[in-house]
Amino acid sequence: MAKIIAGIGASHVPAIGAAIDNGKTEEPYWKRVFAGFEKSQAWMRELKPDVAIIVYNDHATAFSVEMIPTFALGCAAEFPPADEGWGPRPVPVVEGHPALASHIAQSVILDEFDLTICNKMEVDHGMTVPMNLLFGKVDKNSHWPCPVVPLAVNVVMYPPPTGHRCYMLGRAIRKAVESYPHDLRVVIFGTGGLSHQISGPRAGLINSKWDKNFLDNLSKDPKKLMKIPHVDYMREAGAEGIEMVMWLVMRGALDDKVDEVYRFYTVPASNTAVGHIILQNKKYGAAKKAATKSTRPAVKHKRAAARVKVDRKRS
Ligand SMILES: [Fe+2]
Repeated sequence: MAKIIAGIGASHVPAIGAAIDNGKTEEPYWKRVFAGFEKSQAWMRELKPDVAIIVYNDHATAFSVEMIPTFALGCAAEFPPADEGWGPRPVPVVEGHPALASHIAQSVILDEFDLTICNKMEVDHGMTVPMNLLFGKVDKNSHWPCPVVPLAVNVVMYPPPTGHRCYMLGRAIRKAVESYPHDLRVVIFGTGGLSHQISGPRAGLINSKWDKNFLDNLSKDPKKLMKIPHVDYMREAGAEGIEMVMWLVMRGALDDKVDEVYRFYTVPASNTAVGHIILQNKKYGAAKKAATKSTRPAVKHKRAAARVKVDRKRS
């Protein structure tokens, strides 16, 4: 049986991708941002998931404003990086997992979430930037460490889905994964945000208090976040802050109570607040003590690590 082990929240600021691609990660401005993901990359190398489900939004690359699915699931065998105006990013083609994706589509649609099925799709920085942040820089001619099932969510044109809908979709995805008959250790990403607004009179808006409160509730009391209306995201976190609803798909796919393994928050990157969190289902425990010294209380490692070893033997 497949199982979701952990959830990852990460901003997907396009300038982060440009900094990686143009060799600027050691510059002081960017070093501050990338340093916050070093522990996460060590954690991910240790965890070695079999598949990642990545919840992200397309930025008018795969979908134009002529056609905007609310939820679109990538069922293809591969997803090439999109040309976002200056050529595709120099990252590997993202390998898909058509068997798991098709299973999720069937289970979730029969659970009354009407996904759009994409058998051909390019992916933009919304997906590849968080992959770099968690997997590190990967040579264009090499391979990402694991296949990916992409789930694109409309947060670019009104009306986006509600936080409640996103959370419940996460629940349905979890049910789908747990009914997949083959052993897979799955992680799920929620990407985007945190507070930012890229145009208009409030361009440059960042609300750290709101962001940190969102992260606190995501960890401890996610059901509180389900009730936040769109207008609150727009007012408190800026026009593009609505991307944060995608983190609720990730959170809905996890247990009610989770261990917060790691958290990182910094401002700004470009004109955006960068947020990052790693949440792990308690029964799978922390993969390793290393790389998990959190700013928040972390899991008791010894017994949890032992359980992981047992789980791995079984799977
Ligand atoms: Fe975005």
